[in-house]
Amino acid sequence: MSNNHKHVIIIGAGAVGASVSYFLSKKNPNLKITVVEKTGVAQAASGKSGGFLALDWSESTELGPLSSKSFRMHEELAEELNGESYGYRKVDTYAVTMGSAADGKKLGEISWLDTSKVERIQSMGSKKTTAQVHPYYFTNKLIDEAKNRGVEVLCGQGVKSLVWDSSTNELTGVILDNDTEIHGDAVVVCMGPWSSTLPMRSSKSPRGKLPIIAARAHSIVLKPNSEVPAQALFCSIQLNRNFYDPEIYPRPDSTVYICGETDDEPLPLSATKIQIKQSSIATLRQLAAAASPSHLEGADLVAAQACYLPTSKDGLPLIGEHPNSRGVYIATGHSCWGILNAPVTGLMLAELIDDGQITSVDSATVAAVNPKGRC
Ligand SMILES: Cc1cc2nc3c(=O)[nH]c(=O)nc-3n(C[C@H](O)[C@H](O)[C@H](O)COP(=O)(O)OP(=O)(O)OC[C@H]3O[C@@H](n4cnc5c(N)ncnc54)[C@H](O)[C@@H]3O)c2cc1C
Ligand SMILES: *[C@@H]1O[C@H](CO)[C@@H](O)[C@H](O)[C@H]1NC(C)=O
Repeated sequence: MSNNHKHVIIIGAGAVGASVSYFLSKKNPNLKITVVEKTGVAQAASGKSGGFLALDWSESTELGPLSSKSFRMHEELAEELNGESYGYRKVDTYAVTMGSAADGKKLGEISWLDTSKVERIQSMGSKKTTAQVHPYYFTNKLIDEAKNRGVEVLCGQGVKSLVWDSSTNELTGVILDNDTEIHGDAVVVCMGPWSSTLPMRSSKSPRGKLPIIAARAHSIVLKPNSEVPAQALFCSIQLNRNFYDPEIYPRPDSTVYICGETDDEPLPLSATKIQIKQSSIATLRQLAAAASPSHLEGADLVAAQACYLPTSKDGLPLIGEHPNSRGVYIATGHSCWGILNAPVTGLMLAELIDDGQITSVDSATVAAVNPKGRC
């Protein structure tokens, strides 16, 4: 069943590309593997996301088995790779509704919130079912481990096209932005929201694009005035007569990460060209201050950033071989769960590339995320 690939080129060093490089190099140490990254490791969503992990929040969808397996894989990775070094920890998670004129009862354990505004607190997960990583350090850890096993990581030039042998129709490599050609007999497209910018070759449309859409979201990192416990919050907050749903994740490095909703700002050519809207940052700061005047009002701003979610048209990630291009593998479209699902995606691709089939995930789930019929 083996594909007998000799040199695999992984395009993109976000959490997904990093995980593919980690699991593929672990599975087959004799394989030559090159990661090509246009900017730097984890410079896009994989460095700027929340890094929140949940065991069973996708249970009602086709992604259920995938997500629960990946949650367990995060637990195992944290043991093998010293998860503390990349901010892995288990957390308690709550849904919190805050209004302007609440009666302030029932704060329970969450003592760092504004008592006078809390209307409702509901548990969404415990230390058994929810956890977090710092996505930037997690992604870099996987890349460092892959490098230790001999994986080459090239940063600073993107892949602009794939190269085919015109007589045999076989994939022979990629061309970088600086026109350097790298020979390889398989590629893995892990370009996150940029995955649709790489021309594909398919029988249907010779220059077809992968069906991935990008949506921008802002986030901030604050240095709180005093220590905040390991409690992740999915909030609904009323501010100036508008309602917002920020997510607030205290981190073990004593910072607090807060992200907001998406907008429709078009995707720039590169992660280094992402624009930040100052009013979105200001709103996040106001929401943080409203939620926790004691800990977050006037807290130092450590980071103000934006990044893009990679979303497929049907909402499921694309994981598998391109239906019309042998040797072209796809691992993208993870939307808001790309950090959670990166480990299982890397394992699936490692099996598919090295063995020719995915065995660690049940066949119905493999079929649900297969690109066949979807691109
Ligand atoms: C605000 C926010 C909060 C989030 N919170 C969470 C969360 O709590 N938990 C969770 O599981 N997920 C979360 N996510 C989702 C998660 O961040 C993404 O799903 C995940 O980071 C996607 O990883 P990726 O590797 O596919 O893409 P990316 O991280 O976007 O990486 C793609 C890489 O490809 C590179 N690239 C682009 N073009 C080229 C080219 N031509 N050649 C070579 N390289 C190229 C880019 O430079 C980039 O480094 C969040 C996302 C956002 C936006
Ligand atoms: C092109 O970029 C690659 C990858 O960053 C680099 O290794 C190579 O030296 C560059 N080539 C030229 C001619 O600049």
